[in-house]
Amino acid sequence: MIEDAAQSFGATYKGRKSCNLSTIGCTSFFPSKLLGCYGDGGAIFTNDDRIAKACKEIRVYGQSQRYVHTRIGVGGRMDTLQCAIVLAKLERLDWEVKQRQRVAERYNQSLAAGNIGLLSLRPDRTCVYAQYTVLTHDRAALQKHLNEAGIPTAVHYPMPLNEQPAYKHLCCPDCTPVAQQIAKQVISLPMGSDLSEAHQQHIVKHLL
Ligand SMILES: Cc1ncc(COP(=O)(O)O)c(C=O)c1O
Repeated sequence: MIEDAAQSFGATYKGRKSCNLSTIGCTSFFPSKLLGCYGDGGAIFTNDDRIAKACKEIRVYGQSQRYVHTRIGVGGRMDTLQCAIVLAKLERLDWEVKQRQRVAERYNQSLAAGNIGLLSLRPDRTCVYAQYTVLTHDRAALQKHLNEAGIPTAVHYPMPLNEQPAYKHLCCPDCTPVAQQIAKQVISLPMGSDLSEAHQQHIVKHLL
């Protein structure tokens, strides 16, 4: 089981942290992520020594010892500068998560009365709000309205995986009706630990 934790890093499920829920947990340090570096980076988590050894070898062209290649690998080293940035930011990850949860809570409370569909969170898990995504029936109109007010939005994501050209031939058509429907309605609002209350009120005003 491989867990894609690129957006859930820092979240918990039944008291266990994301990346500790599966055989292999993967996360991304892409700049837009919760724990982002300034270029490309990522990490793999596992409790299985055999997999850890294989991952370390694959990262350096399949080398098991200097100049001995025992498997096919890639050049996947994360550069030192990105590591230094991630290590420094890791120290304030808990703060980052708490801030985002605070911002999300403010959105939840302010938008509860409007027509925007809010995502609910089950009590046995926490969310780190890599995105703050809501549902709307007329996404194009809402995006235009917010854009004209200088409020950026994004769509995460417009096409379900089984509709992607690369995978379409492997999947049955219309077998994910919910994902197809949701992909037409999702819109992500500005979210970040530095989003001020005043700026958030300005955003909410244009949503109600
Ligand atoms: C859910 C998810 N998985 C995987 C990725 C890919 O991350 P990376 O570009 O660091 O490989 C992303 C980043 O956009 C993501 O959001």
